[in-house]
Amino acid sequence: MHTLNLDSEEHLSPTYAGRSFSHDIPKYRLPTEGVVAEAAYQLIHDELNLDGNPALNLASFVTSWMEPQADRLAAETLAKNLIDQDEYPQSEVIHQRVVSMIGRLFHAPAHQRPTGTATIGSSEAIMLAMLAHKRTWQRRREAAGLAADRPNMVMGADVHTCWEKFARYFEVEARVVPMEEGRYTIGAEEVEPLLDERTIAVAGLLGTTFTGQMDDLRSIDALLTRVATEPGWQIPLHIDAASGGFIVPFARPEEEWDFRLPSVRSINVSNHKFGLVYPGMGTVIFRDASDLPEELVFHINYLGGDMPNYSLNFSRPSSSVILQYFAFLRLGRSGYEQIVATVLENAQALAKKLGAIDGLGLLTDGSEFPIVALRASDPLATDLTQLSHLLRERGWIVPAYTLPPNAEHITVLRMVVKENFSRDMVDMLAHDVGVSMRNLAQGSRPHRARRRPVC
Ligand SMILES: Cc1ncc(COP(=O)(O)O)c(C=O)c1O
Repeated sequence: MHTLNLDSEEHLSPTYAGRSFSHDIPKYRLPTEGVVAEAAYQLIHDELNLDGNPALNLASFVTSWMEPQADRLAAETLAKNLIDQDEYPQSEVIHQRVVSMIGRLFHAPAHQRPTGTATIGSSEAIMLAMLAHKRTWQRRREAAGLAADRPNMVMGADVHTCWEKFARYFEVEARVVPMEEGRYTIGAEEVEPLLDERTIAVAGLLGTTFTGQMDDLRSIDALLTRVATEPGWQIPLHIDAASGGFIVPFARPEEEWDFRLPSVRSINVSNHKFGLVYPGMGTVIFRDASDLPEELVFHINYLGGDMPNYSLNFSRPSSSVILQYFAFLRLGRSGYEQIVATVLENAQALAKKLGAIDGLGLLTDGSEFPIVALRASDPLATDLTQLSHLLRERGWIVPAYTLPPNAEHITVLRMVVKENFSRDMVDMLAHDVGVSMRNLAQGSRPHRARRRPVC
């Protein structure tokens, strides 16, 4: 959100000695006249040079590199609106293939009617899943002649902001398990006291945004399976696999976190993270069509044909779905296995080097998820936020932020190791962290930590 600037008459005064521009261009007002395409391109291209370099961005989980063939497909499909299923039927066929492949990867049961859709990211996927669980709960309560107001959901303080957003936007009480020193995830023990007959769902994380750790999903599943024997206590477990959904199936396929756990009714994943496609792509999968009340599915016919649609928005380019299909065909299971194994190795190599630097301690070592989180051995002696700023001066984007309540006194430095982060870069980053730590020890001013990590 931005406050509109209605006062400024500032202009861009382009250089290039008037080769392409004969006049200044207003910054906040629609220009009266246009300029030639090459001039507009150059102007914007130059301004964007001020952005960080995606290749050095260890803050974000989001894919910042794809192969040139993917770039070509992206350009070819940007103009196709995914919602226009009748006009672009083959894109829709590919959409269905992609969702099916992901459902199979997550062990969607063939004897049920699994269903799913691509979304713009995990945030939309989570909101769609939780809206469905809320409506299912309301209808069940109404059918039993019980009050269907004051729904709640249970989650750890380790969740991404989008969960709080859902609670606030869609009026569901968020019952949040706080974190504590040494425990940055949740399990059945913490969840059980917060459950009641008004709980619409429990959130379980396959890789938290803060530390990349995993909630104890098996214990939460066992708890929900046990309480489901009580009338009216059929509480679904939703797995937020935003970052882990394309890691665990390839790194530890035997690990049961998905639809193999009986109380898991829905799962989201961010394809634009380790699904290895550019931003703008997530997926939600429901165990069975009955988990998605039919009244929430809109049937649109004014573009021709009958198009079932479950989304928060309407139009979107089909390119991200097509790119996911490209990545699946291009890499296959073995390609993903190789990439995941490599990012985990690189993350562990980075963790080993950083953990050996005086003054830093490891919170996660990159062995489960390609995420390295560090804290200062002595927070009074080492300001990690300032370390983050020093690294930025070298071009590295490495965020420092505080953990959620009640562990907000702990500041961490977190690095997401992605496919394009080579072992060579591991060595360079570790070297620069070492140098920055020495510079820090020689004294500099403190900065305030960010409250939230970037995703
Ligand atoms: C665990 C988790 N859930 C949800 C999200 C939101 O994902 P998206 O950016 O795809 O909407 C993130 C983003 O980092 C995340 O880490």
